[in-house]
Amino acid sequence: MPAPSAATHPTRVLVTGVRGKTGSPLAELLAARAGVEVLGGSGDPATVTAAGVRPTAFSWDDPAGWRGAVQGVDAVYLVRPDRPDTPELVGALLDQVPPRAHVVLLSEQAADDPDPDGWAVRVERAVEVSGHSWTVLRPSWFMQVFTDPRFYRDLLAGGGELPFPDGGAAIAWIDARDIAAVAERALLEPGHSGRVHELTGPEALTLPRTAELLSGVAGGPVVHREVTVEEALTGTEGFDRDLLALTYDRVRRGSFTPVAGTVEQVTGRPARTLAAFLAEVGSTERPAAVPIRNTAETPVT
Ligand SMILES: NC(=O)c1ccc[n+]([C@@H]2O[C@H](COP(=O)([O-])OP(=O)(O)OC[C@H]3O[C@@H](n4cnc5c(N)ncnc54)[C@H](OP(=O)(O)O)[C@@H]3O)[C@@H](O)[C@H]2O)c1
Repeated sequence: MPAPSAATHPTRVLVTGVRGKTGSPLAELLAARAGVEVLGGSGDPATVTAAGVRPTAFSWDDPAGWRGAVQGVDAVYLVRPDRPDTPELVGALLDQVPPRAHVVLLSEQAADDPDPDGWAVRVERAVEVSGHSWTVLRPSWFMQVFTDPRFYRDLLAGGGELPFPDGGAAIAWIDARDIAAVAERALLEPGHSGRVHELTGPEALTLPRTAELLSGVAGGPVVHREVTVEEALTGTEGFDRDLLALTYDRVRRGSFTPVAGTVEQVTGRPARTLAAFLAEVGSTERPAAVPIRNTAETPVT
């Protein structure tokens, strides 16, 4: 794993998914470190405006552009795309990454449950057999799904129903900024090579309790409604549908329930609670005003 080497040349880190929930705060942390050059990989680099981050064209749909994006990198943060050919894509990308580079993969909690040979594990294996030193991050569900307009943000504006096919299981929601903080260490510091970090918040919350906490900051009461998986999959199709069905199945069997202390072990401070996250959302700005593109200026999305 590369150590920052300000004396010779900066440590160059490519952050894929830099506009996303973990990539954005990670890029901000890296840019604040001396001796680190941050390449912000996006399919739309013109939208990468974070201070100290060099916009870098990177798209899983454009393999011809990969070589330019990974040139001279010492470390890569890989946000896996959710598509059927991800294991092959990741393998092909890593073939072009300099052999000395350390790779940190964003996977998901208990990726091998229930299928130790499933899609998520095959993505992890593509990294593990790539010949690079590696770290796998396996986070639970992100708290930022509650401030993402593509998920539940509308709930925060006016309250309403939180439909979820949870089967009574609890989720150990994690703040994406805590994932980023662990990723920062794994990318730059020794001791993480060959390790799989399960990452969660400090407590597992049922969906009714989650709705109760959301009510505290929403513009009206939020009420959990248990729905069937079939109902939750309405409007989805193809691989997205299959992956979402598997994810809900994993929720229901409790794959996202166990609490791990990894955030505190790695960063030296406790993982943020959902209550603290939501208090911050409520006190900083009205949810409807949260910008979605320039996430570097948006602490909680
Ligand atoms: N969400 C969770 O709770 C969760 C939990 C465990 C694991 N994961 C995994 O983590 C990975 C990231 O998932 P995510 O859902 O959280 O995605 P994300 O990191 O928020 O975004 C992923 C990509 O979508 C594009 N994007 C981000 N924000 C956008 C916006 N506002 N409008 C348009 N495009 C935007 C960006 O790519 P470009 O800049 O290239 O367009 C971004 O890199 C996935 O592999 C997922 O399976 C997610």
